[in-house]
Amino acid sequence: MSYPRDRLRRLRGSGTLRRMVCETKLSRDDLILPLFIVEGRGVREPVASMPGVHRWSVDQVVDECKRVADLGVPAVILFGIPSDKDARGSGADAENGIVQRAVRTIKEGSPDLCVMTDVCLCEYTDHGHCGIVEDESVLNDPSVERLALTALSHARAGADLVAPSDMMDGRVGAIRTTLDEHGFGELPIMSYAAKYASAFYGPFRDAAASTPQFGDRRAYQMDPPNRREALREMRADLEEGADILMVKPALAYLDIVSDARAAFEVPIAAYHVSGEYSMIRAAAERGWIDGERAMQEALICIKRAGADLVLTYAAADLAQRLDA
Ligand code: PBG
Repeated sequence: MSYPRDRLRRLRGSGTLRRMVCETKLSRDDLILPLFIVEGRGVREPVASMPGVHRWSVDQVVDECKRVADLGVPAVILFGIPSDKDARGSGADAENGIVQRAVRTIKEGSPDLCVMTDVCLCEYTDHGHCGIVEDESVLNDPSVERLALTALSHARAGADLVAPSDMMDGRVGAIRTTLDEHGFGELPIMSYAAKYASAFYGPFRDAAASTPQFGDRRAYQMDPPNRREALREMRADLEEGADILMVKPALAYLDIVSDARAAFEVPIAAYHVSGEYSMIRAAAERGWIDGERAMQEALICIKRAGADLVLTYAAADLAQRLDA
């Protein structure tokens, strides 16, 4: 009998060996936790479609952020859910808007936590689109102006990084210019650079009450079949001044994460979005899969594909279980 000389199983025989030859490590340092902030006091309201995720009022999220920081999660990203919405999304750049108050209060309680803000209009507009609407179409340039002012108001509130998620053309450049002109030249931008019009955002829109009232987001977010176009989107954002490029969603788009890693030197982030999270949690609740293992596998595979940072609703749970 002739045996192969090369036996790949030799290095899989024990946990110790597997640990030694492990090519990808998931660390607490890689994690960014998304948080939903609502009006009111004493609110810690579970999101039905996202088991383990809550909507927090400002007074409550402060303690949650301290807990998360103590677990070693370096960063959170805030999504504001205002009680009043209008056509232009006035709440988005209000000095005392929901996110602006949350940033100020969280930074007081957890000065070392990196507090990022999602910059978009969809949670603040009554029509639920990510920009200014005229005749049922989303206007690019007027939307960009509003987004730049929104980013500036987050900066003034003390955000450590702004993350535009709207997918208007030219918004990163406009935000960079506005920040620079107002003394925030050092504030980094993480752009949702390759963001697809995905069905996996369903639970988020529930949580954020941001489902478009008419139409969908396909006229501004990317079309899922397109791969080369993602490189153009990311290159454009980089040239406009993005410091970190994000791919979203993550699991169904690992080829895009891998392309991004190969093409650019900046840190790459990937967003394991609400639908990707809830699918695992829902199947686990039914006893169909081991939810903890599946979650960890999903996130490490996102890193293996080339992401440096992973936005995940499981960040705090995971930080409790990771070694370092
Ligand atoms: C806002 C925004 C969305 C998500 C992040 N920022 C929703 C959307 O584009 O409809 C989705 C996040 C998730 O599903 O977890 N534009």
